[in-house]
Amino acid sequence: MTLIDGKQTADDIKREIAAEVEEMVAQGKRRPHLAAILVGHDGGSETYVANKVKACEACGFRSTLIRYEDDVTEEKLLETISRLNEDPEVDGFIVQLPLPRHISEQKIIEAIDYRKDVDGFHPVNVGRMSIGLPCFVSATPSGIMELLKRYGVETRGAKCVVLGRSNIVGKPVANLMMQKAQPGNATVTVLHSASTNIKEACAEADIIIAALGRPGFVTADMVKPGATIIDVGTTRVPDATRKSGFRLSGDVDFANVAEKCAFITPVPGGVGPMTICSLMRNTLLAAKKEIY
Ligand code: GUN
Repeated sequence: MTLIDGKQTADDIKREIAAEVEEMVAQGKRRPHLAAILVGHDGGSETYVANKVKACEACGFRSTLIRYEDDVTEEKLLETISRLNEDPEVDGFIVQLPLPRHISEQKIIEAIDYRKDVDGFHPVNVGRMSIGLPCFVSATPSGIMELLKRYGVETRGAKCVVLGRSNIVGKPVANLMMQKAQPGNATVTVLHSASTNIKEACAEADIIIAALGRPGFVTADMVKPGATIIDVGTTRVPDATRKSGFRLSGDVDFANVAEKCAFITPVPGGVGPMTICSLMRNTLLAAKKEIY
């Protein structure tokens, strides 16, 4: 079994990006600049955004964090988005999700100029991705594809099961896995809460990408010997032995599944660090105007 080390891979990529940024600066260009909008104090969102700011430092980017309290109006957020859209010093920006219930996430996402949408959530980017055109690919799917590529996992002709159909992970990763590209060219089955054949389909899969948010859902009996397992789950489970009071749990019963498979990603240290790294790459592409 090969453990897919997302932390190490992400560190390698951040070093590659940092080297490219120093070259840009030596040529008199300004540093890539990522802005992030964070609303409220959700623990998960706070951690994600802090890690994004840290990754910007590691890559030599400029970063700006804009914070609002939970009661910020939709109008105020739209105004800030409009300002960032127009700011020539900002290459890309993100609005950390989820947002409070009184704000329409879809309205917010659609207000972002797709040319600065480094999260790849705008319908223009989603649509272009789905037909294989240059675009900002959302960070988690893109991080998963990079891991498969760097670890040489054979995807061509592989049976791939995607568990979960979210707009952020399940749908886009299923799309990328079936595209005529390397990695890609897989035969993809997407399973979700209304699917009836989950155990059988998983047991036949060469690659399982689990993105349901249900701790330990994928058990050893659902896994074919020699399969590749990508675990996207990051559920916070209460754990009194930790200082934080919780631990992160993946969607895979790691201890038992690891013995059966060829490749597996751990949680934490697998897909998570790659997600942030893909956001950095998108920001670099935005600064270099390589896509739009
Ligand atoms: N919330 C959970 N994942 C993400 C992400 O990749 N981007 C943003 N903006 N919010 C998130």
